[in-house]
Amino acid sequence: MSSTTPAGTATFGETATGQHPWWADAVIYQIYPRSFADGNGDGMGDLPGIRSRLPYLANLGVNAVWLSPFYVSPQADAGYDVADYRAVDPRFGTLADFDAMLAEAHSLDLKVIVDLVPNHTSDEHEWFQAALPSQPHSAERQRYMFREGSGPDGSLPPNNWQSIFGGNAWTRVADGQWYLHLFDTKQPDLNWENPEVREEMVSVLRFWLDRGVDGFRIDVAHGLVKAEGLPDWSERASMVEGREHSPGVEDTGAEDADITGLETEPTPPYFDQPGVHAIYREWNSVLSEYEGNRMLVAEAWVEPAERLFHYVRKDEMQQAFNFGFLLAGWNAARLQASIEESLLEAGKVGAPSTWVLSNHDTVRHTSRFGLSDPTTFPKGLSADDEQPDEALGLARGRAAALVMLALPGSAYLYQGDELGLPEHTTLPHSVREDPAFFRTGGVERGRDGCRVPLPWTAASPGFGFGNYPEGNSGPNDDGARPWLPQPESFAAYAADRQVGVAGSTFELYRRALELRRAHRLGSGAVEFSELNDPARGVLSFRNGDVLVVANMGGAPVKLPAGYGMLAASTSDAIRGAAGVLAPDTSAWLRMVPNGSTGR
Ligand code: NOJ
Repeated sequence: MSSTTPAGTATFGETATGQHPWWADAVIYQIYPRSFADGNGDGMGDLPGIRSRLPYLANLGVNAVWLSPFYVSPQADAGYDVADYRAVDPRFGTLADFDAMLAEAHSLDLKVIVDLVPNHTSDEHEWFQAALPSQPHSAERQRYMFREGSGPDGSLPPNNWQSIFGGNAWTRVADGQWYLHLFDTKQPDLNWENPEVREEMVSVLRFWLDRGVDGFRIDVAHGLVKAEGLPDWSERASMVEGREHSPGVEDTGAEDADITGLETEPTPPYFDQPGVHAIYREWNSVLSEYEGNRMLVAEAWVEPAERLFHYVRKDEMQQAFNFGFLLAGWNAARLQASIEESLLEAGKVGAPSTWVLSNHDTVRHTSRFGLSDPTTFPKGLSADDEQPDEALGLARGRAAALVMLALPGSAYLYQGDELGLPEHTTLPHSVREDPAFFRTGGVERGRDGCRVPLPWTAASPGFGFGNYPEGNSGPNDDGARPWLPQPESFAAYAADRQVGVAGSTFELYRRALELRRAHRLGSGAVEFSELNDPARGVLSFRNGDVLVVANMGGAPVKLPAGYGMLAASTSDAIRGAAGVLAPDTSAWLRMVPNGSTGR
């Protein structure tokens, strides 16, 4: 039995009153604006839509929302290509809509985190537009990563870097120079050696801090600084370094070299360079000028965990996404290893850990867990690929949620997790928008399948995503339908079929969040229990007075006597008078004082 100390919430960022800051144990809900709720019926989600659904999120019981980008953008990468950092894209509303949404969120006691994309701008940003007609080496060019080409006449790219979305990471401009884009051609990388870039991004931080946002999710936080001399790197780095999908390969995970899912690879010269940390130290001091425990959370696909937690040292960011946990899949040994490593490394720097199962860049976990190998990590799914077992994936997804929400630290939910929503695994290629699909020639199916607009009401056109005329339940040319088609199966997952309905996934999440607060699980500690047996697929730990048991093996697990059930991932998870936990389920138990089982 091993014990893992809590996430350092007693010391890290303590307020003057000795309380830990709000984010240390917060449950944060990711809103993907274009797919959350469409207030004006144009087929695209927007800020008024978000505002109208805030009471739903307050009822669910989350503490904060994180909004993916809603800024002015040509949408070459769904808004992660920002043309104006201080303005709302008309597709999503206006600054006044943002302010109204923020005020309403705060009135409901919900914090609001916005996305900051500092590694690159859109090519339609005024800086890049000014750089294009300017001379090589001009001040305008030096805001970006312009270089001379290689080869006798400079007609070859400056080095061999590949774009993370596929293809070359360099594009040539009319006068013969090349510019770097780690992502799409329309996302030129900024030059973070240039003080003007640093000053501008601090000014952008202040713009949103002054409006009252509670924090920022920092996109590609590990990518801003590139190695001196831009040395060659022959691999194509992936944003998401997971296990590729290998259908039919059985794997207990026990013999993996790196069990957390992040394979230990040499670091590319454009990721995790030591120089990035000075940037976050400066931002930390900017945030500290503001009241209310504002925070930064790093999107950094960095391994091993020890290096990831460098981003959350005391004077840097407050949180970093724990992708090792996300990549562990439905596997007790890999999850245990990830939990232990995360809490150990978090403890060393006195930061809380975070936990996450899905986001807008990953196949939804309910679908990944329904694949023949529930630890693999496909880069999108299409009709030609293995189709997940939807019921099995949902059962496991619900069970995994109870594991995640019992862990100390902060947990991130992706919109639709609380509905048990699956990936759209059969989207026609003709409707796909993800640049990764196009830049890999379709080898990567891309991320559209996890970005499908949410179903709110089962019987309405577009499942109530917006206010659409009768008969319009699929995409058409006039735009007055959800921007991506929803599968018919979404009807069963619609919010109106779940809110207030006993046994629904929504009510499971709502109850788990309520219990998490009541039992202070977010500020607790993990102690693996006597039931924990990863070789047999059993993950079990205590956090305070709650005993968590998850059955990822094939056989029922006998539960100890003397416990009552607080929550179970399905209504028939615990069976028989003696109490056994069925495969692919999980439960939260609590010792019953008089020794009766209470079941
Ligand atoms: C990470 C974001 O999550 C992803 O959606 C985006 O494509 C890349 N960064 C580039 O900004």
